[in-house]
Amino acid sequence: MATRLPLDIPQTPGEITADWLTDVVRSSGMVTAARVVDFEVGSPGSGVGFTGQTLRVGLTWDAVEDDAPAAVLVKFPSENAGNRGLAEAEGGYDREFDFYERLAHLVPVRVPRLIHAVRDPGPSGTARKRRERIIDGLPAPVAKFIGRHARKMVRPSHRRYALVLEYVADSRVTTAQTLPPAEDLTEILHTLARLHAHFWRHPMLDDAAVIEWSMVTQMPNVMHGLYRAWRNEVVARRPDLFVERFMHHADWFGDNIERLVAHLNEPLALRHGDSRTDNMLFTDSGMVLIDFGVSGSGRPAGDVAYLLSESIPPGPEARKAFLAGCRDYHAELVAAGVDDHPLDAFLVDCEVVLAVQAYRAVLMEATYEADYDGESLAEIWGPRIGALLAEEPPEI
Ligand SMILES: Nc1ncnc2c1ncn2[C@@H]1O[C@H](COP(=O)(O)OP(=O)(O)O)[C@@H](O)[C@H]1O
Ligand SMILES: [Mg+2]
Repeated sequence: MATRLPLDIPQTPGEITADWLTDVVRSSGMVTAARVVDFEVGSPGSGVGFTGQTLRVGLTWDAVEDDAPAAVLVKFPSENAGNRGLAEAEGGYDREFDFYERLAHLVPVRVPRLIHAVRDPGPSGTARKRRERIIDGLPAPVAKFIGRHARKMVRPSHRRYALVLEYVADSRVTTAQTLPPAEDLTEILHTLARLHAHFWRHPMLDDAAVIEWSMVTQMPNVMHGLYRAWRNEVVARRPDLFVERFMHHADWFGDNIERLVAHLNEPLALRHGDSRTDNMLFTDSGMVLIDFGVSGSGRPAGDVAYLLSESIPPGPEARKAFLAGCRDYHAELVAAGVDDHPLDAFLVDCEVVLAVQAYRAVLMEATYEADYDGESLAEIWGPRIGALLAEEPPEI
């Protein structure tokens, strides 16, 4: 069992102090002598996140220094034990720390500057993998039982995590409830193409010492136990959302989960992993990608079809717009130098990812507690995903 670091690491707004803020900002070199004398904790103003607390902390300094930030962004884990346990089971916080510590300085797109990152040590990669293998190898009925009681059985750890980032001021973000303007969507697709092309098939993407986490899930059988445990109840609860074609695709993914997860995990690109528009900040000087809590490596469709599945207005024109977006992205990927990922193969991957999104909507409705102005994410995204699905899942 890993021990805690002998350090004070705040985990709630009430535990933040001016001295801690002074130390962490000084450690980044942004200030040398100035001290924080007062601070104000606010929220950046998005919905209730699934996985964490994200805070804007305004800073008052005792002396003027040119680079002293007027505010920083602080991320702590969720105080909701169930959400936290589920997030940690898939590497929730570690993924984002790993990204900022190991990769953020190398990516060809703008991300917030890392000011400070500190977390208690977790189990070694080998120990965790062994545990995952054992749990994922349990018989199907046991996996289903675990799935039924996942919120209680997946215990959160006692680790502390604090991530302090540059606060990107005066930015515009499209929340889950609304749809992005077409220009934003194009800019996001092109930014993703540059990100993906940059590390294309780089050996580091397949090196567990750098990127330990895969796409979709670490434990497909456990995930599918969760799905099987809740599927019928969720459909009965919301027959308007989980209609026949939707469930046909979701079930298809579930029936083939091991094979399809392995396929999507092929480490072709560094993936953002949670490419929804509320993880993209638009400023006068361009776009900033944030929230690397689900980052990892895998096939690029994972980011592209995920993004499009929540960004296109549902309706008869939706699928056409989806395919146009996929093609636009792919042309940009090729222009950035990727010449061994044919359009046809990419489009098949995109169809698989749409099925993953349908499957995820069922899981979200079943397990996570998050609220977007009284609506669930499945309620907001379900109709958008549904409008994009082909009649039949792809042949793969
Ligand atoms: N560095 C930042 N600068 C400005 N706003 C941010 C920054 N990071 C996050 N935000 C805002 O906070 C929200 C939640 O942060 P995010 O990192 O996406 O965490 P979560 O895991 O809760 O989604 C974002 O949608 C955005 O509005
Ligand atoms: Mg986010």
